[in-house]
Amino acid sequence: MEQELKNLEQEALAALNEIQRLDELKTLFTEYLGRKGKLTHILRGVKDLPADQKPVIGKLSNTVKTNLEKSFEEKQNNLEKSQIDKDLNSGFFDTTIPGKGREIGHIHPISQVQEEVERIFSQMGFAIMDGPEIESEYYNFEGLNIPGDHPARDMQDTFFIQDKKDKKHGHLVLRTQTSPVQIRTMEKYGAPLRVIIPGRVFRYEATDASHDTTFYQVEGLLIDKNISLAHLKGVMAEFLTRLFGKPVKVRFRPGYFPFVEPGLELDFSCLLCKANGCKVCKYSGWLEFMGAGMVHKNVLKAGGIDPEEYQGWAFGFGLTRLVMMRYQIDDIRLLTSGDLRFLKQF
Ligand code: PHE
Repeated sequence: MEQELKNLEQEALAALNEIQRLDELKTLFTEYLGRKGKLTHILRGVKDLPADQKPVIGKLSNTVKTNLEKSFEEKQNNLEKSQIDKDLNSGFFDTTIPGKGREIGHIHPISQVQEEVERIFSQMGFAIMDGPEIESEYYNFEGLNIPGDHPARDMQDTFFIQDKKDKKHGHLVLRTQTSPVQIRTMEKYGAPLRVIIPGRVFRYEATDASHDTTFYQVEGLLIDKNISLAHLKGVMAEFLTRLFGKPVKVRFRPGYFPFVEPGLELDFSCLLCKANGCKVCKYSGWLEFMGAGMVHKNVLKAGGIDPEEYQGWAFGFGLTRLVMMRYQIDDIRLLTSGDLRFLKQF
């Protein structure tokens, strides 16, 4: 019995020596150490041996088992290592290729600028408001002093959503501007107010490098007692100066929007040429920036605010256009393209 065990061990070790591949190793392992293996068979028989042989043979077979297991493990390690060596030497494994890092996304350029705009206006005491992108005709138009037959409706081509809400609110539309949130905010919080409303708006337009069906605006609304356009000029000059990090001047021109009276357009001094005139500002020294004006009294009334007691101003600028100006992006469609080659630049 003792000899049998020793022979078995020698036999297994000799076979192990010949093994070249991992699958052969597995077969050999099963042959000797598997559940129905040769050594396992002997080990099982130990319990039936005469009492005087049991401890001797039991001990020996355990030693053989441990030895063999160790040898098999060593062989396995050697085979695996030589496989890696083989891969390395065959040129199949290029050790100079950097590991695959996990791609980490980052904030979209529009959101980056939006966050900056919010930060600056917050510092000036403005609250940030939000409103629905699917809006009623009432909030998007009527409440803003734009009745159904008003020609100003043609200024903003509208996506209509078929079903009619009710008599007062009309059809559902995709909001064409952030101005409807002016009324929603007045209704909810009353006067005085100091808010900005950044948000996505939609227009039914043919797209080109400077037009898209979807873009972003920032609305501003300030309502209090004894408010004038001088406050607007001061706030906007301060905002733009903080945003661009250098002194910016603003100017007013007359403009028309049904929900303000008087209405105006605000331009700011061209930063590229220090207002001396260049291609970007079309040699005028000024860049068109936004529409604004004193809130029309019909709009104050629609928001439940008494125009005899309070007045204020509102403005709306294109956040998308501001991003384009800031980063000199020449095609608006890139911003919503989801193209990583574009987005990774910011
Ligand atoms: N809502 C206007 C637009 O989209 C901009 C604006 C807002 C003008 C507030 C005046 C006051 O063109």
